[in-house]
Amino acid sequence: PWRSSPSPYLTWVSEIMLQQTRVATVIPYYERFIERFPSVASLASAESDEVLSLWSGLGYYRRARHLHEGAKQVVEEFGEQLPQNVKQLLSIKGIGRYTAGAIASIAYGLPVPLVDGNVQRVFARLHALELERASSALDKQSWTLAEKLVKGEHPGELNQALMELGALVCTPRSPTCLLCPVRSNCAAYSLGEQEKFPQPRIPQKVQDKAVLWALLKRNGKLLLVQRPSDGLFPG
Ligand code: ADE
Repeated sequence: PWRSSPSPYLTWVSEIMLQQTRVATVIPYYERFIERFPSVASLASAESDEVLSLWSGLGYYRRARHLHEGAKQVVEEFGEQLPQNVKQLLSIKGIGRYTAGAIASIAYGLPVPLVDGNVQRVFARLHALELERASSALDKQSWTLAEKLVKGEHPGELNQALMELGALVCTPRSPTCLLCPVRSNCAAYSLGEQEKFPQPRIPQKVQDKAVLWALLKRNGKLLLVQRPSDGLFPG
């Protein structure tokens, strides 16, 4: 639904929701959210509890709190309009390099790159980059490659196509290379070693944590308690 009218605000909301959550899960949340908050101004003037309750179930609630803070900032500092340049976009709470790239390219049509995990995998395979999955070296290299590639006529479409190629075709396991439109340019494919790129991550040390929890149910209702604003699952 966010593709039907990619305004800066709608692109912002959808891209924040999509950052750690899959498309099918996001769609109903997105629709409820924009129905209640159709504009930056309506979100900015909302109570925090209402914003969080519309986010309830999506997880990573910090995203919702930052989005809310960011909306207030856009109203106060930018006259309810998301700015059109990356530097100012990056000054808004919760907008990092990825989201700034998405808003600039998809909503404003500016030649600004973006990189997510899917894009990193596409580049790692296209160029047979001998770099580790989710490493800062792969991230850095991917931004450099994306920057060069985005200079064409349709930057928003290019960026979305790259992400979608990674999500639907150039998948982590068993990529469907026979359907891939850039197969003939792919170094990993020509080596016959698609799944070797990017390289596996060196496993992190697992930390044990003791967690105490309780589930309180009465008359079919659940008791919800808000977590402290720092530590594990803040807010
Ligand atoms: N993943 C996150 N945002 C996306 C978009 N706009 N298009 C395709 N994949 C995405």
